[in-house]
Amino acid sequence: MSKDASRRKFIRQSAAVAAGSALLTALPGSLRAGAGFAPSDQLNIGLIGCRNRGFDVLREHLAAGGVNCVALCDVDENVLNQRSAELQEKHGQKPTLYKDFRKLLDDKQVDAVIIGTPDHWHCLPAVYACEAGKDVYVEKPLANTIAECDLMAAAAKRYNRVVQVGQQQRSGRVWNDVMAYLKSGELGALRKTDIWANFNYGAGTQKVPDSGVPAGVDYEMWLGPAPERPFNQARFHGSWRHFWAYGGGLMTDWGVHLLDMAFWAKEITTPPPTVLAFGDNRGREDMARETFLTMSVVFPFDGYTIQWNHNGGIQKGPFNRNYGLAFICDKGTLVANREGWEVIPEWDGEAKADKTARKTFEETNNQSSLNHARNFIACVKDRKTPACPIETGRAVAVATHMANIAARTGAYRLDWDAAKGRFAHSKAANQLVRPDYRSPWKLPNV
Ligand SMILES: NC(=O)c1ccc[n+]([C@@H]2O[C@H](COP(=O)([O-])OP(=O)(O)OC[C@H]3O[C@@H](n4cnc5c(N)ncnc54)[C@H](O)[C@@H]3O)[C@@H](O)[C@H]2O)c1
Repeated sequence: MSKDASRRKFIRQSAAVAAGSALLTALPGSLRAGAGFAPSDQLNIGLIGCRNRGFDVLREHLAAGGVNCVALCDVDENVLNQRSAELQEKHGQKPTLYKDFRKLLDDKQVDAVIIGTPDHWHCLPAVYACEAGKDVYVEKPLANTIAECDLMAAAAKRYNRVVQVGQQQRSGRVWNDVMAYLKSGELGALRKTDIWANFNYGAGTQKVPDSGVPAGVDYEMWLGPAPERPFNQARFHGSWRHFWAYGGGLMTDWGVHLLDMAFWAKEITTPPPTVLAFGDNRGREDMARETFLTMSVVFPFDGYTIQWNHNGGIQKGPFNRNYGLAFICDKGTLVANREGWEVIPEWDGEAKADKTARKTFEETNNQSSLNHARNFIACVKDRKTPACPIETGRAVAVATHMANIAARTGAYRLDWDAAKGRFAHSKAANQLVRPDYRSPWKLPNV
């Protein structure tokens, strides 16, 4: 069957499958979608940003089945050619290759795009994809500034697109089980969640001098809307996450994954009203980095507190885990990360017994990324809301940007006025809400 014919079939069959999907509602949300997917259906996908995570996500979509990769786009020809060869060899796919994502978005064969570019390059491709009538799987954090997050959410709504944000823990067994257990009442009330993220890579990469642009790289296009700056390998592939113009350090990189779980436990779907944050950058001066080496952050909600701590260049942490969450409840603390979860009960001195049952679960087969891809494919077909909708991605991405902005400006405490889309008392903080796009790029009007 030609790609066009299979695409028409995919769209035609959507209504029929949507009707059948009601039978599946007994299964947990994010693990449900994807089941009952007819193998003859084909979704034509284009990938923008192919080096690392973008290609992993594409692989998961191909593994899920029912997907053709019809287009690849990257500004680094070396990455593009390598990924194209791999696709042909291992998956029998021969996509059209693009260096400019706008050309990929003009390609009528493409039904949906995966966006795996650095964070400063999420907004424009996602908004233009929505305008072009394509559905979108966009990597986390949703965007590199608060204003971009808002524009992307507005575009998804205006053009009625299915948008899955790449917070794949929403589709993971550990986290679905944790949420069910917290909500079962076994642990009593959840009052506070402590989160920590200690990662060696958070210190940055080894400093190197500026150098010439590698052959095959369109560096102007890699920078895109970010400020002009000489090429430096320590700010390029993978390492961009430690520089404000392209990323937000550990706070955004891991922050959105882990804060998402603390938000989910209380069904919080909007940015927090307040943040208190302190960031420090002393130490590991040998490493190239603008983002904070260590950060301590508090998000106070009504009757619930979330606390975040990160340490770059450190790989040990509380409960013998380098990263994780401790959900502190009246009868015990539930400690979780991607590798599993356990309950540490409180002791009842009078009854001489634990206040709740001890529990442990070890994850040996993490399928969250595969489930997340399956969920996206099924939601595109059914026109349903995916496991990590754009508003969920927006709420946590904005929270992490609030924390970075509070620490960067020295405001330390910031109050977010959601109605006005600005901070209540800080001119300096409000200047960081919108990015200053470098010409010819412009923030889109949605
Ligand atoms: N969900 C997860 O678990 C997870 C894990 C890792 C990364 N991520 C996210 O995935 C995204 C990519 O991260 P990475 O580690 O793969 O980065 P990377 O630097 O390894 O790869 C990014 C790729 O995008 C390309 N690119 C840059 N600008 C482009 C443009 N305008 N058009 C087309 N291609 C462009 C680069 O050349 C590179 O090949 C980030 O947003 C990151 O936060 C998510």
